[in-house]
Amino acid sequence: MSEIRKVRGFQDIYGENVKKYRYVVDTARRIFEKYNFQEIILPYVEDVSLFIRSVGEATDIVQKEMYIFEDRGGRKVALRPEGTASAVRAYIEEKLYTKGGYQKLFYEGAMFRYERPQAGRYRQFHQIGAEIFGVDSPIADAELIKMVKDILDNLNIQTRLEINTLGDFECRKIYVEKLKAFLKEREEYLCEDCKKRIERNPLRILDCKVESCKKITEDAPVLTDFLSDRSVERFEKIKEYLKGLDIDFVVNPRLVRGLDYYTDTVFEFITDKIGAQGTVAAGGRYDTLVKQLGGPDTPALGFAAGIERLMLLIDNIPEGKPLVVVIPVISEFNLQGLKVSQMLRNKGIKTELILKEGSLKSRMKLANKLGGKYVVFVSEKPELKDMSSGEQEIFQNLDDIIDVLEEKI
Ligand code: HAM
Repeated sequence: MSEIRKVRGFQDIYGENVKKYRYVVDTARRIFEKYNFQEIILPYVEDVSLFIRSVGEATDIVQKEMYIFEDRGGRKVALRPEGTASAVRAYIEEKLYTKGGYQKLFYEGAMFRYERPQAGRYRQFHQIGAEIFGVDSPIADAELIKMVKDILDNLNIQTRLEINTLGDFECRKIYVEKLKAFLKEREEYLCEDCKKRIERNPLRILDCKVESCKKITEDAPVLTDFLSDRSVERFEKIKEYLKGLDIDFVVNPRLVRGLDYYTDTVFEFITDKIGAQGTVAAGGRYDTLVKQLGGPDTPALGFAAGIERLMLLIDNIPEGKPLVVVIPVISEFNLQGLKVSQMLRNKGIKTELILKEGSLKSRMKLANKLGGKYVVFVSEKPELKDMSSGEQEIFQNLDDIIDVLEEKI
C-alpha cells in the first residue's frame, strides 16, 4: 500500500525541535506573566467574515491564503490565519470591556496560511502573541515593544527593530489618494500583483520586493509628510521612550505591514540570519478595529511572533533535568525496578525504567542512547553508576541510592 505523507506546508515537530518549541513558549509565557498578561485560548475556526472585516478584503491573507470551508451546517468558516481578529471578537463578544481598566491578553497556537512553503514559512505555523485593549497612551506602545525585546533577549536572539507610523485614519486617507495618483501614472512599470494593488491596497506596493516596483516607489510620496500633529507627537513620544529604555531601532518609512487594521505605530523585529523570511516578531496599534467589528470605541495594540522562526535562531537550549535510568539486572527484579522508578519520580527525578528485557549489555547500551546521567542497577546488591565519570558504587539498599540521587540532582 502506498505511504501517506503529510500535507505540503505542514510539519511534524518532534525530538529536539519539540524541546526548542517548548523552550520558546515557556520563555515567552514567563515574560507575559511578568508583565501581568492573562492567557486567552481562542478558537482555531472562525466565521470567515471576521477576517475579511479585520485583516482586510484586499490583503494577500484574505485574497489567497485562507483555508476556507463550509462546515456541515453550511456555515462558511476559516482556519484562523492570525490571532488578533479572534482576540478582538472575543473582547467584544465576551464583553471584556465591562471589566474596567484595560485588558492585557496573550495567546499561543497554530495559525494557517496557504503561502508558498519555504524555510521559515509554512502553511501551519505557530505564534505567540499578545494584545492590549483600552490604552491610548504611547507608554503602552513602548512597553509592548520592550516586552517583545525581553522575550528575544531571553532567547538570546539578536534582531534589528524597525518602527514606523501609519498615522491615524484621516491622514492616511489623504495620503493613500496621493499615493494612488502617483502610482497610476507609473502603472506600466509595476509588477502584475502591484498593478492590481493600486486600487485595492496601494500601501502594500511600498512593501513589494520586486526590483522594478522598489525603484518606482523610491520617489513616491511618503506618509510622514501627511501625518497629523497628534500622530507625529505620539510617534515622537514612543521614540523618546524607546531611547530611554536603551532599545535600538531604525525608523523605516516603508514599513507598512500586510494587514489592514493598523493605525499609527507599526514595528517589526527582523533578522538576516534565516533568509528571506526574516521577520520574527511584528505588531502595532489598531485603534479603530474594535469599533469596526461592532464593539465600543477602544484603542488597542499587540504583536505576534512566529515560533518556528524563533526556533531557527536558537542553537542551544539549556539542558533539562538529568535522566536516571533504572535497570533490573535480572527479571526477578522487574517489580522492584517498577517500584524504585516510581519512588524516584515521586521525588521529582526524571526516571526511565528500561522497558526491554534482554542482556544487561544491550540494556546498558540503551541507557547510554537515552542519555542517562545515572544508572541504577536493581539487584540484591544495588549499584549506582555515574555515566559521565564512569564511577560505579555498590549500596546496601535502594533507599540509600535514592537519597544519594536526591542530593545530587
Ligand atoms: P504577521 O506579521 O502576519 O502579524 O505575523 C506575525 C509573525 O508570524 C511573523 O512576523 C512571522 O514571524 C510569523 N509568521 C507569519 N506567517 C508565517 C508563516 N507562513 N510561516 C511561519 N511563520 C509565519 C500578525 O499575525 C498580527 N496578528 C500581529 C499582531 C498582533 N498585530 C497586532 N497584534
